[in-house]
Amino acid sequence: MKKIAVLTRDCAGINAALRAVVRTAAYHGMEVWGVIREFEGLMEGDFTRLDRRSVSGIIDRGGTVLKTIRSEAFKTPAGQEKAVRQISKNGIEGLIVIGGNGSLTGAHILASRYGIPVIGIPATIDNDINGVDLSIGAGTAVDVAVEALDKIRDTAMSMERIFVVEVMGRDCGYIALRVALAGGCEEVLIPEKEMDIQRMCDEIAEGNRMGKVSWIIIVAEGRARAGDVADEIRKRTGLETRVVVLGHIQRGGRPNAGDRILAARLGNYAVELLRSGETDRCVLLKNGQTDSIPMDMVTHSKKTEVDPYYRLIKILT
Ligand code: F6P
Repeated sequence: MKKIAVLTRDCAGINAALRAVVRTAAYHGMEVWGVIREFEGLMEGDFTRLDRRSVSGIIDRGGTVLKTIRSEAFKTPAGQEKAVRQISKNGIEGLIVIGGNGSLTGAHILASRYGIPVIGIPATIDNDINGVDLSIGAGTAVDVAVEALDKIRDTAMSMERIFVVEVMGRDCGYIALRVALAGGCEEVLIPEKEMDIQRMCDEIAEGNRMGKVSWIIIVAEGRARAGDVADEIRKRTGLETRVVVLGHIQRGGRPNAGDRILAARLGNYAVELLRSGETDRCVLLKNGQTDSIPMDMVTHSKKTEVDPYYRLIKILT
């Protein structure tokens, strides 16, 4: 395999993975083309040549230097066929796709329906990819949110207030659970668990009677909007409540060391797998070793388990 292309979504650590892909490929004398704006660029043939030098100085940069977009057109067979024509026209022999569930689904379609050699690298702050313990970007997102939370706690304590803090996580409480545990929060509301607002308000009211004056409640965006939760607390307890929505600050910023190291290992391994003739697989770390699983395992179901952190947060409150 002499010529490959790489596509990316957006989160901290993606540039570090891109660098690892490009430099591993260069080490093996392969040519790498970056696809601008992910599947949209693949359909349009919007490619840029990447060599060792072009990925200098990006290891610590958040986002993706290749840009990205959520493509509706690529979800259609016509869009996919257009992409396949561009791959063949440009002499691309294999693809590496770095992203979350949406990106890996696109990668799986190209491999399974059109026979394109493709390897996926899991990268999403939600960490909701089935079969993958840790995706690139999730660790940094938790760090960013905990740093913000520590600042919120200063005001919560000083002004004796309740704060409801909304974190990202469309279908998954990964970030919320870790932020709540690392931030010493009283309550966490996640998509995987039904929420019992009345029970929570009763506990807040009772705590307040006993002299507890500040609470921090973490809510994953996929469970509820922080503003709605705060309205309910105010209505049912009469206590002053403030709202903070952390939003996209969790997805940006400099990748932490853990994400850079994960990106280096997975980026390198993805190229090795592609060279060895593997396709339709997603790379990951298992017990500290690089490994891979079939892409349909990744794309056909989402993580649903609630990890033990939920119980621990309750015990430590
Ligand atoms: O999947 C990652 C994620 O950041 C989710 O946590 C969030 O719901 C979504 O993407 C936001 O997407 P967008 O940036 O397109 O609004």
